[in-house]
Amino acid sequence: MKLLITGANGFLGQHLALHMHNKLYDIYPVSRGVKRIPIAEIPYYQLELTDKQAVLNFVDQIKPDCIIHTAAMSKPDECFYNQAECILQNVTATEFLLEAAKQVSARFVYVSTDFIYGEGGPHSENAIPNPLNFYGETKLMAENLVKTSGLRHNIIRPVFIYGAHWDGMRPSFIQWVKLNLETNKKIKVVTDQLRTATYVGDICKGIELLLQHETNEDFHFAGSDILSPYEMAVLVAKVVGLNKDLIEPVTADSFPEIVRRAKKSGLKIEKAIDILGYQPLSFEEGVRLSFS
Ligand SMILES: NC(=O)c1ccc[n+]([C@@H]2O[C@H](COP(=O)([O-])OP(=O)(O)OC[C@H]3O[C@@H](n4cnc5c(N)ncnc54)[C@H](OP(=O)(O)O)[C@@H]3O)[C@@H](O)[C@H]2O)c1
Repeated sequence: MKLLITGANGFLGQHLALHMHNKLYDIYPVSRGVKRIPIAEIPYYQLELTDKQAVLNFVDQIKPDCIIHTAAMSKPDECFYNQAECILQNVTATEFLLEAAKQVSARFVYVSTDFIYGEGGPHSENAIPNPLNFYGETKLMAENLVKTSGLRHNIIRPVFIYGAHWDGMRPSFIQWVKLNLETNKKIKVVTDQLRTATYVGDICKGIELLLQHETNEDFHFAGSDILSPYEMAVLVAKVVGLNKDLIEPVTADSFPEIVRRAKKSGLKIEKAIDILGYQPLSFEEGVRLSFS
């Protein structure tokens, strides 16, 4: 099966390219900048997704069986400050990719986010969307384009992704905690937000399971533990053997928040467990693997 993976320089995209390469899929990882995947034998193609003709040509040339679209402007604050650019990266680029996918009848897997929902999590796949910030709004707009494309498609939603990190990748929350504790720096971490953080390896396995199923359903690929960032930071300190007393519990209102984030977010994963056999790690296991 030929897989086109967008956002291949990103945190999820790099992990996914490695995972699918190891599983012997025929992969075509694309991203905007120069290659940052650290494995020479993994192919890589530079592709600007807002360049419609380049996208149409590339997809027509490769003729992928499936396009896994992870690329996005993924930082909510950046989206808020650059709204026109955010629409271009998150919505218009998705529109071009969908048009290209139609040319070759490719299956389309869109990586969305828990940010399309509002308060009252953990949410199931049939919860009513209610984005609290502009990033979430644009991801929901892209979801709607995917849903009305007429293509075989799936929308998957991870939450607060973490995992192993290497040079050329932006660190996830757990690396930020470790780095600060290692250098004896105090950190303030919020207690009054709940998330079901996703180990990146679980999303990769979830996508692999999805590809083995002929389904048009949406799935939540999240972790099984509902934890606050403070609880997560304390678990990171335990796993890496550093001083948890450097972690100060605070409430979200002690930070000037530029964009709204749900207090109680997180996603339910029963559907992915029942239909796909998805089995996520506990947060502690995920952190252990990330630093092993
Ligand atoms: N991180 C999370 O906690 C989280 C949680 C839930 C959902 N998600 C979703 O999961 C997906 C992956 O997130 P991530 O954290 O891995 O993102 P990321 O690290 O920010 O990576 C996104 C990648 O997309 C590429 N990209 C952006 N605009 C592009 C364009 N116009 N043309 C070509 N490539 C473009 C960038 O490539 P270059 O680096 O080459 O410029 C970047 O490496 C996103 O769709 C995000 O919305 C993330």
